[in-house]
Amino acid sequence: MATVTELLQPVELDLEILLADLRSLIGAGHPILQAAAEHLFSAGGKRLRPGIVLLISRALSVNCDLSAKHRRLAEITEMIHTASLVHDDVVDEAKTRRGVETVHSRFTHRVAVLAGDFLFAQASWHLANLDNLEVVKLLSRVIMDLADGEIKQGLFRYDAGQSFETYLEKSYCKTASLIANSAKAAGVLSGQNDDQLGKLYHFGRQLGLAFQVVDDILDFTGNEKQLGKPAANDLASGYLTAPALYALEETPALEGLIEREFTNEGDLEQALEIVRNSQAINRSSELAENFANESIRAIQWLPESPYKRALIELPEFVLSRLY
Ligand code: IPE
Ligand code: IPE
Ligand code: MG
Ligand code: MG
Repeated sequence: MATVTELLQPVELDLEILLADLRSLIGAGHPILQAAAEHLFSAGGKRLRPGIVLLISRALSVNCDLSAKHRRLAEITEMIHTASLVHDDVVDEAKTRRGVETVHSRFTHRVAVLAGDFLFAQASWHLANLDNLEVVKLLSRVIMDLADGEIKQGLFRYDAGQSFETYLEKSYCKTASLIANSAKAAGVLSGQNDDQLGKLYHFGRQLGLAFQVVDDILDFTGNEKQLGKPAANDLASGYLTAPALYALEETPALEGLIEREFTNEGDLEQALEIVRNSQAINRSSELAENFANESIRAIQWLPESPYKRALIELPEFVLSRLY
């Protein structure tokens, strides 16, 4: 299976320009916040979200070129994503991200809170300057959803009675909303009709849900070196994701461990074992596969091009992270 760099190869040059532009956009800020943002941008994430915006934009353009507004939209998307990670790592007290120290570990909590705010604010300003009210509405909704998702996640910590629906709503807010709405926004800038916009949104939504379920599985099956961020962290923090929720259905004994917040020696290890040895990981993979297949079906109508082919392969890539 192709790596993400290979998959995003049709927009590789665009992504290089994006990185340079991001640096100059944040360059206008306070030096310490700039250093904090630069710290993460240089560590280099997968750039999946701007990659998707760029691929859709080129796939929809008659001669496959890219307007300045499409480019800026891709940049805003990565800024919002990075801002959400900086804040998420504070909330989770995570030590590493993208294989380097998190902003609050490298600098301080104050700097991380401000750097996240700074990135959100920069993103909002550049968003407004796109002069397209529909796009402003789509992406400002994402910022609302991100906050909503973090709050929901906090409210349901250690709540073994929460429904699967709650988990999916939280995942939509934290992850799928950004991918769905930025995919749709690329379509808006390209003048697509409502039916096509709905399909772009659906593509991003289902892909985002697949991506989050895979991330949640990897938290149980991966290690820090592979992931570039802490593993086995979700359950320890009381975040009940797909694998834990499925395991609860299968092994009711897990409930007691969760409800007492793993306070007894060995509780957490036992709970992790229960999840890893149940059908929960397989069932979660099947769930991710279903989301991924739905996302592929949503973009079959795009005109044939290398950009479309890359988009069609993305859901497969997301699943391949499991193997
Ligand atoms: C991490 O996203 C947050 C989740 C939605 C799980 P990515 O895994 O895309 O993070 P980077 O940008 O590549 O670091
Ligand atoms: C997060 O999901 C997506 C964000 C919007 C931050 P996670 O909370 O699972 O992300 P990681 O595992 O810390 O990257
Ligand atoms: Mg997190
Ligand atoms: Mg995670």
